[in-house]
Amino acid sequence: MSEPGSIRVFAPAKLNLFLELLGKRPDGYHELETVMVAVNRYDRIQIIPRDDPQIRVMTRWHPSNAVWRQHLGQSASKLLELPSGPSNLAYQAAQLMRRHCQSQQGFELKIEKTIPAGAGMGGASSDAAAVLRGVAGALNAKVAPETMHDLAAQLGSDVPFFLNTRYPAAIARGRGERLQPIPASASIFFVVVFPPRSLSTAEVYRKCLDCPGSARLGMLSTFLKKGDTRGLAGIMFNRLQQAACGLFPELAGLLRQMEQIGLAGCQLTGSGSACFGLAQHRWHAQRAVAQLKARGFRVAFVANPIVIAA
Ligand code: C5P
Repeated sequence: MSEPGSIRVFAPAKLNLFLELLGKRPDGYHELETVMVAVNRYDRIQIIPRDDPQIRVMTRWHPSNAVWRQHLGQSASKLLELPSGPSNLAYQAAQLMRRHCQSQQGFELKIEKTIPAGAGMGGASSDAAAVLRGVAGALNAKVAPETMHDLAAQLGSDVPFFLNTRYPAAIARGRGERLQPIPASASIFFVVVFPPRSLSTAEVYRKCLDCPGSARLGMLSTFLKKGDTRGLAGIMFNRLQQAACGLFPELAGLLRQMEQIGLAGCQLTGSGSACFGLAQHRWHAQRAVAQLKARGFRVAFVANPIVIAA
């Protein structure tokens, strides 16, 4: 049952079909060119007004912490523990929005996670974007889209992407905040695998040498819209993959196994550690997930492009 005055929001995951670094910026970030697509794997967040001005974050893994612990094995404790205080991006989002609205209203943020953390799937960023929208709603505040975008960009490079409710995908440039939304077919079947280890975004970027290649993003957009997986697989790329494999050598083995079972364009998403590949159709994707699970990759699932709910 939901508490009075509470708001529920959905926070989808993303996959990076393309990611190229164009050079280091004076602010220490990298100038990048990336194609992100939102997929139907969601965290669910309940935003409940409190009687005091505190912001509190409570996270719970869905369907249960015990199931995830079983799937993740030895590394579970480290992977499942998420910050409940100001270092949680969802907390920062609530604080930023209420400050923007000149409010002292306290909130309980109950986050039910299904997006693995430290996976390059944008879980924390998506939670933050959903909290920005949800808190604005709870405060009855009308916030202009440009202001929403600026607040999101203050929280993290990937956060503005999750405010895009027009198309499932976007080309992102700059730090990741300059967005050009693009369509994507809902009948693309991604198979995603999270190996039981997270990677630090900052560390992967630090280890990565940028040597920009030429992007064919016009072609990629066309294939994405048509759902042409063969075309997509020929263009998809992630510059961070080599650095991530250097930090976590088992990733190369995982990608090889994904290719062996017939997935195309297998690569890392974002700074990892999750990897994904393209299946030919729904049944192929489901069979691939079963095969990967049988090989010991317990967190494996099918995902399709979706439009983020406004
Ligand atoms: O913006 P966000 O906090 O998500 O970035 C996490 C880290 O990833 C940054 O501290 C930086 O090391 C790296 N990063 C980068 N260039 C980007 C985005 C992220 O170097 N465009």
